[in-house]
Amino acid sequence: MKHELIVALDVPSAREAAAAVARIGDAVSFYKVGLELFLADGPETLRMLRGEGRRVFLDLKLHDIPRTVERAVGSCLRYAPDLLTIHAQGSVAMVQGAARAVREAGAATKILAVTLLTSLDRSDLDLLGVARGVEEEVLALGRMAVGAGAHGLVCSPREVGALRAALGPDAILVTPGVRPAGGDVGDQKRVTTPGDAIRAGSTHLVVGRPILGAPDPRAAALAIRAEMDAAL
Ligand code: C5P
Repeated sequence: MKHELIVALDVPSAREAAAAVARIGDAVSFYKVGLELFLADGPETLRMLRGEGRRVFLDLKLHDIPRTVERAVGSCLRYAPDLLTIHAQGSVAMVQGAARAVREAGAATKILAVTLLTSLDRSDLDLLGVARGVEEEVLALGRMAVGAGAHGLVCSPREVGALRAALGPDAILVTPGVRPAGGDVGDQKRVTTPGDAIRAGSTHLVVGRPILGAPDPRAAALAIRAEMDAAL
């Protein structure tokens, strides 16, 4: 499978998104649009990215009753995202609904499930009544989601090795929390380098601030890509 670098466009407006994409230039062709940017300027941003021939990861983490998610995925398809996220915790019927919406539209969009938010820890799982350990829970949700038709998962660097072993070679595994060797980690707690993430089985790396906040975003992106290529 081809390995991809995705830049998280964590900015508040289409104007700032366009400026970031222009600075990165030809170094990256894949961009993540999350809730902040989508709710502010989604249609305009997605038209801009499409118009420039960029690929799009639409990170909306949909989570609702199956029929609602199925129809919401149908609505998202007007933007023809390459990747679209849902929450695995919506369970089997919800994941199946999302996959069906894509299939019935004949769309090329890949559905990715988020297992457990990496912001949750043991005390949150206790509050939620989840007895299994974090890794066990992630594996169970990941297997369920892929079994129900998700094309892949979003997962932390800490989990990617176990998920790759459990899911085999075809699953898309998208990993945020990546920092170039020696870089500033910001508020990310469980980070790994691009090379380690690729070696552990990630297919796509999502990187935001180490690229957008760099003095030369294009050079920062090229350095990360070189680190990914060297790991293969
Ligand atoms: O700036 P940074 O590289 O930390 O950005 C990572 C991106 O990946 C952000 O858009 C963040 O919301 C997202 N993300 C994450 N950790 C997760 C899931 C998504 O950092 N577990």
